[in-house]
Amino acid sequence: MEFMKKNTLIEKIDPDNIDSKVVEQFGKMLADGKTVIFPTETVYGLGANALDEQAASKIYVAKGRPSDNPLLVHVAERDAINPLVVDMDERAKKLIDRFWPGPLTIVFKKSDLIPKVTSGGLDTVAIRMPSDKVARALIKASGVPIAAPSANLSGKPSPTKPEHIIADMDGRVDGILVGGFCDFGVESTIVDLSDDVPMVLRPGAITLEMLKEVLGDVILDPSLSSHDDNIKAKAPGMKYKHYSPNANIFMVTGGIDRFVELSEFLLETRANDEKKIAILCMKQNISRFEELKLKFKNVHVLSLGSTYEEVARNLFDVLIDLDRRNIDVAYAETFEEKGIGVAIMNRLKKSAGYKFV
Ligand code: TXA
Ligand code: MG
Repeated sequence: MEFMKKNTLIEKIDPDNIDSKVVEQFGKMLADGKTVIFPTETVYGLGANALDEQAASKIYVAKGRPSDNPLLVHVAERDAINPLVVDMDERAKKLIDRFWPGPLTIVFKKSDLIPKVTSGGLDTVAIRMPSDKVARALIKASGVPIAAPSANLSGKPSPTKPEHIIADMDGRVDGILVGGFCDFGVESTIVDLSDDVPMVLRPGAITLEMLKEVLGDVILDPSLSSHDDNIKAKAPGMKYKHYSPNANIFMVTGGIDRFVELSEFLLETRANDEKKIAILCMKQNISRFEELKLKFKNVHVLSLGSTYEEVARNLFDVLIDLDRRNIDVAYAETFEEKGIGVAIMNRLKKSAGYKFV
């Protein structure tokens, strides 16, 4: 299918006072096989009817996404998954009881209702029930399960704010439902239950620690810990270049003192080049770079937030901001791989192409 510029209908929606007329209108667009971008509690999604091959294939076109990368399916109610899956695992039921609605995606054996286009040719389907009120109202209004990957152009950081989407997607989709700043800011945790030991294919706000409380033993897909091209990621999408702004990002290990020292050294050696440089650090560390900022005019010091939760929420926004500011090179603080720190580092490593200094 060729990409053709569309007239995109853009409407604002207040999550605390949902206008049911707007939701009905966008729900009908989805039911009619059109594409709609909508807010969720993780990131904005680019949705279409998951059961309609033609509708689902429009998602790949709009994103410029490889068609072997399966789509994630969203439902508004638990019971809506029954016709979509076969063999409901006891462990899946426990996860659903504990974490739905919310940022947890579970991989199921798919039923014949899910077309190959949606599952990317796999015999499984990844499903989640979002907690975001606008997302759920919209899915309900459409009357169908909604396939929705993150609403970014393929390879770019996932959108967490309306301005991210309008810039890239106006003209590529039929509708955009404009909500607020997404709560979690990193995409949902994906769990695969096909082996005895459950495996996290993508870390997110539902952490390994939280999953272990419900499931006992849980492991992280080994391909996520080692950047070895020979180890194949189980979530097809995890193998692609991801979250990459135009800026060249490096991660700085060894703590904030080393970061400050190293950045002085790096900047001295770059003192005469014209490159725009960004330092990405936690809010409480910004003052450590004051001198540097005074000394070098081409340096921007940007806050990622003051807690890990804030860093997760802000990360994609800050990465997208690098392009808005035409930053050439960015140095980023690194985070402990615990709790949501695992999800933060997973996204950061990918956006930095695994480059540490
Ligand atoms: O938070 C989220 O999950 C967001 C919002 C919009 O809900 N969606 C999202 O979708 O991140 P997407 O398509 O950008 O990422 C889905 C990931 C991809 O890496 C894909 O390869 C993987 O899930 N995936 C989808 N179906 C799968 C399956 N059957 N088995 C394994 N991985 C699967
Ligand atoms: Mg994505």
